[in-house]
Amino acid sequence: MATFPEYIAQNEERDGVRFSWNVWPSSRLEATRMVVPVAALFTPLKERPDLPPIQYEPVLCSRATCRAVLNPLCQVDYRAKLWACNFCYQRNQFPPSYSGISEVNQPAELLPQFSTIEYVVQRGPQMPLVFLYVVDTCMEEEDLQALKESLQMSLSLLPPTALVGLITFGRIVHVHELGCEGISKSYVFKGTKDLSAKQLQEMLGLAKPAASSQGRGSSSPRPRGNPAAARERQPLNGSGCARRFLQPVQKVDMNLTDLLGELQRDSWPVVQGKRPLRSLGVAMSIAVGLLECTFPNTGARIMTFIGGPATQGPGMVVGDELKIPIRSWHDIEKDNAKFMKKAAKHYEALASRASASGHVMDIYACALDQTGLLEMKCCANNTGGYMVMADSFNTSLFKQTFQRVFSKDVQGSFKMAFAATLEVKTSRELKVSGAIGPCVSLNAKGPCVSENEIGSGGTCQWKMCGLDPGTTLALYFEVVNQHNAPIPQGGRGALQFVTQYQHASGQRRIRVTTIARNWADAQTQIQSIAASFDQEAAAILMARLAVQRAETEEGPDVLRWLDRQLIRLCQKFGDYHKDDPNSFRFSETFSLYPQFMFHLRRSPFLQVFNNSPDESSYYRHQFNRHELTQALIMIQPVLYAYSFQGPPEPVLLDSSSILPDRILLMDTFFQILIYHGETVSQWRKAGYQEMAEYENFRHLLQAPVDDAQELLHSRFPMPRYIDTEHGGSQARFLLSKVNPSQTHNNMYAWGQESGAPILTDDVSLQVFMDHLKKLAVSSAA
Ligand SMILES: *[C@@H]1O[C@H](CO)[C@@H](O)[C@H](O)[C@H]1NC(C)=O
Ligand SMILES: *[C@@H]1O[C@H](CO)[C@@H](O)[C@H](O)[C@H]1NC(C)=O
Ligand SMILES: *[C@@H]1O[C@H](CO)[C@@H](O)[C@H](O)[C@H]1NC(C)=O
Ligand SMILES: [Zn+2]
Repeated sequence: MATFPEYIAQNEERDGVRFSWNVWPSSRLEATRMVVPVAALFTPLKERPDLPPIQYEPVLCSRATCRAVLNPLCQVDYRAKLWACNFCYQRNQFPPSYSGISEVNQPAELLPQFSTIEYVVQRGPQMPLVFLYVVDTCMEEEDLQALKESLQMSLSLLPPTALVGLITFGRIVHVHELGCEGISKSYVFKGTKDLSAKQLQEMLGLAKPAASSQGRGSSSPRPRGNPAAARERQPLNGSGCARRFLQPVQKVDMNLTDLLGELQRDSWPVVQGKRPLRSLGVAMSIAVGLLECTFPNTGARIMTFIGGPATQGPGMVVGDELKIPIRSWHDIEKDNAKFMKKAAKHYEALASRASASGHVMDIYACALDQTGLLEMKCCANNTGGYMVMADSFNTSLFKQTFQRVFSKDVQGSFKMAFAATLEVKTSRELKVSGAIGPCVSLNAKGPCVSENEIGSGGTCQWKMCGLDPGTTLALYFEVVNQHNAPIPQGGRGALQFVTQYQHASGQRRIRVTTIARNWADAQTQIQSIAASFDQEAAAILMARLAVQRAETEEGPDVLRWLDRQLIRLCQKFGDYHKDDPNSFRFSETFSLYPQFMFHLRRSPFLQVFNNSPDESSYYRHQFNRHELTQALIMIQPVLYAYSFQGPPEPVLLDSSSILPDRILLMDTFFQILIYHGETVSQWRKAGYQEMAEYENFRHLLQAPVDDAQELLHSRFPMPRYIDTEHGGSQARFLLSKVNPSQTHNNMYAWGQESGAPILTDDVSLQVFMDHLKKLAVSSAA
């Protein structure tokens, strides 16, 4: 029998799933006493090169309210050619094509190793992929030049049949018509007035012939180039008139490359002391509207590249007066962020239109100051889009990250999937409370849906317009079995995750994962439940809940909630004598959990101090979509030490790890930092690495650089690279992450004042643990 860590690793490998508990408490009451809910981190498209998709479609349970997919947990009567659904117990006839099955001739979906299986849908057309570039032209020459080159490069990475389109914007918005003979033509829109989908269709000539629109007041488009073309009317479909704006790469890549090359900075003069007028809100609205009416429910990415904040029209986040800065956390707290709510509403409306059409919205924001990611975050979050933040488009952070969007798997397909839905089915003792991650609810009610909503709840289906092999949702469940209705001995609870999506090859596919876990009576078998605890998964699942709260609640309230959960978990699963903190012991399966919480409390996901609102939104966005290992690094960075004493080794994330004769490599997910200790730094300054007799010193300096390169080249988005040393100004990034074990700290204000968190910030892990033990064992608690 495998140990629990082995069992957890195998299940993650095979099914892309990690549960907080791997043995489930068998009644509602006991489940609520576990503190950490029964929940899962699920990576729907986890890479499975060993899992070739099968070329037929799934067999479904015939009960209309169930429709679960035939799976290895179903009982099969080979003689009668019947199978019993393990979710609703319905007996189903196998379809005629299964007439040859027997114990020795089983279809793949009945074999235990295919608890996760992928089907290719045979019906329906191959879908094209659509990429619509939305490009800000209000940026420095250097940025624009670099961006143009990246965009041109990306054309060469697209499949020849992919459709591309281009919208550019500054003070006004241009929708470029591609493929008009020899003339580059664009439709021009004011950046101050939003357009409904219908108005846009009419203005671009995408409407059905009946609709007539020209000359509609001040915001009517002024086609440049050949005006006759603007008036032509074609039927509303993807292959007709839309082709003027969205063309196959193979047909227009030369011309589009030229067009991009000729793009100029916005020509509207910017007066001293002013910001450029940037019509981002209208440009994004036009992009959403264009795809909405031409390619609904087809995989499409709207990729928006911005060099600064929207400064006019709907969606503006700051005025054009430079002396009035963009909102800070302070302004938001003082209710003094005058554009924020209205702008957020604009982008929320766009996000829900895009997600209704199945379209992804990516945001690449490259600027030194904030650009309004806070207001725009739902565009990426609700559509499964990317959010990338860098200081400039002329950085490897942007360039390499953007290039990695187009990376391919061994079959040569993009590692991106589109227009997906995830459906969760539960056995009777369980219901699903909700999901947290880059998804939106499809409001699908049914017997599996819990009334207690967590995150995006009240549904058993979610939409994810864009996802990649790492996209991970947190799913929360409720045990509904009553205490007096015990689960039969040896009973198992089951879940099925059905993910339907458009593969980058254009196929529709269905991936099905069916999972079961044992039930246990928490009163008699609490040890086996405790032994099944996955503290890493639990930490991330609780962290997603905390981050979700932080979006709407005050910081201290969130920390207080998190502290209370931690204390309750210690009380429930710790070993101790009442009122004797020194007696407190946590078993191995829980031993790291308090430390994760310690670092989570200090993390940028919950602490907004020292971060701009855009940075907080950016960090939270990344945290909410990445898989477990990456998310753990975000909470608790990893630290490696390099020295002459031996090979590189992982060391504690603690100030005691900082030694003069060591080099440290810290990975926070967002940053890769190399820190040279005092002595090493002096030697480096003295240039020992240049001298032949100190070759080993040269190797010592080089080793962390090589390791850093590996991380820089494999991660998405690419991290920021920092090279610093003892006393260096950037050393603060390291010092802010390590546990301050060597500072004196007497801030023991444990929840006396209302409003203060229960456990005080900025204490060392030791102090934190001491107080945690004290609170956990206290008979007053
Ligand atoms: C981009 O940055 C590199 C390196 O800093 C510089 O050499 C190059 O000239 C910059 N590109 C442009 C277009 O300014
Ligand atoms: C591309 O540009 C050339 C020259 O400007 C023109 O002749 C050709 O028709 C254009 N091709 C398309 C597909 O628009
Ligand atoms: C993203 O969407 C999910 C699901 O709707 C939600 O739970 C989460 O709070 C959102 N996150 C942000 C940062 O808006
Ligand atoms: Zn069924």
